[in-house]
Amino acid sequence: MSYRRKYIVLFTLVVMNVIDQPAPEVKIAQGTLSGKISADGTIFEYIGIPYASTNSSTRFQAPGPPPSWEGVYNAVDEIYVCAQKSLIGVFGSEDCLKINVYVPAMPKKKPLPVMVYIHGGAFYLGSGSKTIYGPGFLTKKDVILVTFNYRLGALGFICLKIKEAPGNAGLKDQIAALKWVKKNIAAFGGDPDNVTVFGESAGATSVSLLLASEASTGLFKRAIAQSGSSLSNWAINRNPIWIASLLVKSLGYNTEDPNEIYKILSKMTYKELTAITVKKPLGLFFDTEILHLPCIESNIPGTEPVLTDSPYNILKSKPKDIEVLFGTTSKEGYFLVAMETEETFRERNKHYLFASDLTFSSESEAMKLAQKVKEFYFGKDEISMQKYMNLTDVYTQLYFEIPAIFETEFLVKRIKSNVYNYIFNYSGARSFMKARSRYWDEEGACHGDEIFYLFDGYLIPFRINNDDSRIIEYMTSMWTNFAKYGNPTPDSSDLPVKWVPSTKDNLNFLYIDSELKMGPMPNPESYRLWKDIYNKYLKTDIR
Ligand SMILES: *[C@@H]1O[C@H](CO)[C@@H](O)[C@H](O)[C@H]1NC(C)=O
Ligand SMILES: *[C@@H]1O[C@H](CO)[C@@H](O)[C@H](O)[C@H]1NC(C)=O
Ligand SMILES: *[C@@H]1O[C@H](CO)[C@@H](O)[C@H](O)[C@H]1NC(C)=O
Ligand SMILES: *[C@@H]1O[C@H](CO)[C@@H](O)[C@H](O)[C@H]1NC(C)=O
Repeated sequence: MSYRRKYIVLFTLVVMNVIDQPAPEVKIAQGTLSGKISADGTIFEYIGIPYASTNSSTRFQAPGPPPSWEGVYNAVDEIYVCAQKSLIGVFGSEDCLKINVYVPAMPKKKPLPVMVYIHGGAFYLGSGSKTIYGPGFLTKKDVILVTFNYRLGALGFICLKIKEAPGNAGLKDQIAALKWVKKNIAAFGGDPDNVTVFGESAGATSVSLLLASEASTGLFKRAIAQSGSSLSNWAINRNPIWIASLLVKSLGYNTEDPNEIYKILSKMTYKELTAITVKKPLGLFFDTEILHLPCIESNIPGTEPVLTDSPYNILKSKPKDIEVLFGTTSKEGYFLVAMETEETFRERNKHYLFASDLTFSSESEAMKLAQKVKEFYFGKDEISMQKYMNLTDVYTQLYFEIPAIFETEFLVKRIKSNVYNYIFNYSGARSFMKARSRYWDEEGACHGDEIFYLFDGYLIPFRINNDDSRIIEYMTSMWTNFAKYGNPTPDSSDLPVKWVPSTKDNLNFLYIDSELKMGPMPNPESYRLWKDIYNKYLKTDIR
């Protein structure tokens, strides 16, 4: 092909957007990066930048430093995912610690505020990819969006309390990502002193744990926790060595010795390790089936722990004094109830409707309380499939709403910075999780529904209707205002509501629906029930 023909072909491909146009090169300590310009020309995208490193010989430990390179690193490939199990087998890889930076393509007068998102997925699924977490809605509001991957499942959360596997590798990845942002974001036009960390579900629980952790001090200025809290019963693995022993048991080894377990797990390939299928034996308690969760670490010389005490104890004594925004959806529980069967419903009648973060002096005391909770939610009736709305409420309140309220209470009593609360109740065409849970016709919002009003992922490619468009405008304005000013509805905003922060005398909630309005705590009777229970029976000595 002649030079001229080649040029014309290339030019045509660029116009047709078949070849991405390169975004401006960025120089960071690791080397020079190039990225691409989004199809609509509004975003400079730098995708899949290595922010830390890990491999099979450092498995279960804090990540190592990121690699450097010669020449230009072409940060355009959205191919990195941390190893996880799917219906078609294990996909992803072990060294998956990549970060994505989305910069509004406009001249910058001053450094932009930065929002760093921690994805959800119950600590064993998901990635920071644009499939769900598309940047367009947020970057439109003049913030830089950062998303990233962290290690998941066994690779991220095996916790043996020994030097080789101290626990919380996945949280240490998150801290490494935040350190990377602090160090490098100025090169992209971001302000390292104006960083907000936010996340949903396991991502929100992570945010809340980082909020409690001393290891993250100074890495972010503000935090948003959407449907997750370090005070929830599923935030902490209260029996991590036992969980690890279940994994090796499924391979034919009978041991609870951390060193022996480590020997077995460290010799496997990451695929074999991720593929292990174990079910937690169903106990009396209403615990989630998630195997791998953050844990309380021991103080081991040579490791840098994220968490060495329970979040309750830390929040009581020394919470970070920063602005926080907490919220939950009105019917979180739909997605969990959708996974139940007639049989699992019936099974609930023989178990407690509270989790193992409580402790009792006797079995009969526990039974009595369990009966009280059952009557509160189900009256005199047996638990059955017909009572799916009542079980939805148990899940919503026990796993999400109540812990977020407890965490708010802890903070407003102890810090000066504002704490904001919301309940998301909007139901629209982008309410993906509710639709997937097959509760399309029911009222309220499912766990995860609000995500699609903050992100324009590929997963929902449909035209956006006017109602949804308005909610997207509300959500992204409030979230980015909070990131910029620590106030979701500053005087300069033209939002139709003033979001009043909670105080130690009064918890205030923004109800996010077709309209925005302030209101009192939702479900006050449920709050009283759980408050009394947790005051009396909370297990504080987790090791
Ligand atoms: C594994 O990572 C560690 C820490 O970054 C590094 O020192 C070591 O050389 C790596 N090992 C291999 C086999 O790549
Ligand atoms: C169970 O749920 C239904 C539907 O939401 C509700 O009308 C009923 O009051 C609930 N039962 C109890 C005991 O709360
Ligand atoms: C959510 O919206 C429904 C109507 O769709 C309403 O009946 C319900 O009270 C709302 N719940 C909350 C918590 O605002
Ligand atoms: C954060 O960014 C916003 C928007 O540019 C700015 O108004 C604010 O002063 C910044 N805050 C800090 C603490 O730098």
